[in-house]
Amino acid sequence: MAANRPEIDPEIFTSAEYAANPYPTLKLLRDHHPVYEIPQTGIWMISRYDDVVNAFKDTENFSASPNGLSIGAVFGPTLMEYDGNEHTKLRNIVAPEFVGLKLKALLPVVAQNAMALIEKFTATHARRIAETAAETGEIDIVDDFATRLPLNVILDVLDLPQEAHEMFHEWYPSMMNGINGGPELRARGVKANAEYHAYLDPLIDARAAEPGDDLLSRLSVAQVDGQRMTKEEIKSFASLILVAGAETTDKAIANLWYHLLSNPEQWEAVRQNPELLDRAFTEMMRIHPPAAGQMRRAINDVPMYDQVIPAGALVSLSIYGGNRDERVFGDPDRFDLFREDLYFGKELRSGYHQDGKASHLGFGLGKHFCVGYQLARAETIIGTKMLMEVMKNPRFKPGTHPTPIAIRIEPWNLPLEFDLH
Ligand code: HEM
Repeated sequence: MAANRPEIDPEIFTSAEYAANPYPTLKLLRDHHPVYEIPQTGIWMISRYDDVVNAFKDTENFSASPNGLSIGAVFGPTLMEYDGNEHTKLRNIVAPEFVGLKLKALLPVVAQNAMALIEKFTATHARRIAETAAETGEIDIVDDFATRLPLNVILDVLDLPQEAHEMFHEWYPSMMNGINGGPELRARGVKANAEYHAYLDPLIDARAAEPGDDLLSRLSVAQVDGQRMTKEEIKSFASLILVAGAETTDKAIANLWYHLLSNPEQWEAVRQNPELLDRAFTEMMRIHPPAAGQMRRAINDVPMYDQVIPAGALVSLSIYGGNRDERVFGDPDRFDLFREDLYFGKELRSGYHQDGKASHLGFGLGKHFCVGYQLARAETIIGTKMLMEVMKNPRFKPGTHPTPIAIRIEPWNLPLEFDLH
């Protein structure tokens, strides 16, 4: 290692400090160790925007198989861990469900679900005002809204009963924590997944016999290479859709609120022109997307800078690192929905737009690019807009310490206050 490079203390990667604020370390990595092996884990970190973009797209050298070690260990095997044709065939079953006309048909479902939640929460407030003559309203954006809306939409997509909402609301974070957590959380995630699968079992038989217009029916009769998927494959798929659909978008909604309320002049601009929510969502997906990065496995020896990532090594493509790369985004730690160096158009799978602007990396890139990117955007924007209309002067609840959140396992919330008159 060159003498003038600042050393990295590898202990930082397992520290609470890094979990709370990884950005200073990621900057150090970008500036001095753009490809870096964490000695304790043998995981190689790639942290510069261009390198992350190239690695996502480079399926010759990087395999998505590590998704099998995390997601697959809880849900069973899914398309996320496959490469090449095997991946494409499975992806083709679900990808069309969430874009174009199918998405258009889903937008009223999103609005209805948002309205149902808002009605529930405004009714609770009306009662509170009547009982206590309260002047101030309160909402926990996380528990009252962000963890509810995407879940309800995905339940409608799968045609699972909204009456069972609370059960799914417990299952999906447990399943997610099982992917990211230690042995105890893994065991809890596997158990939640098994309960969900047992619940789906008879439904899959019924949908296969008499398919409806829902996604679970389509999975139940879908053919891959002329053969129906096994029941186990259908159930793993349904786990992926439930968790990918609910988890992540919940954080997107909460993080958007966090960043808007932390920047009052931008909040005011959006309040006056809600069309700007689209830009605000894109900038949130740059500065604080729900997924911090994705794992890949090096298929070959991959030379990068003065290092060689050995074949077989695990490689972390840092979305957080790339999205805050000062080589690409000016003043990258600043939330700015008016910034000019970010591509604000429809999401790209390729990194740079032809006009030279860089897109955010929050939905990944390349073959495994998020299937639900349009739905997540629609849910966040529609839900936020509707909520903004019913709250006057929202602000962080005094005495709380709001932070944005990524997929991780601590309990989280974002309590707000607002004026009732
Ligand atoms: C803001 C919300 C969301 C974020 C941040 C997000 C993020 C991501 C990322 C980073 C990937 C790439 C994984 C990889 O490269 O290994 C991905 C894939 C995926 N996402 Fe999302 N996602 C979101 C919402 C959704 C929604 C709403 C759905 C469901 C409809 C969904 C379904 C999927 C699926 C099925 C894949 C796997 C695609 C494949 O392997 O080909 N996501 N997502």
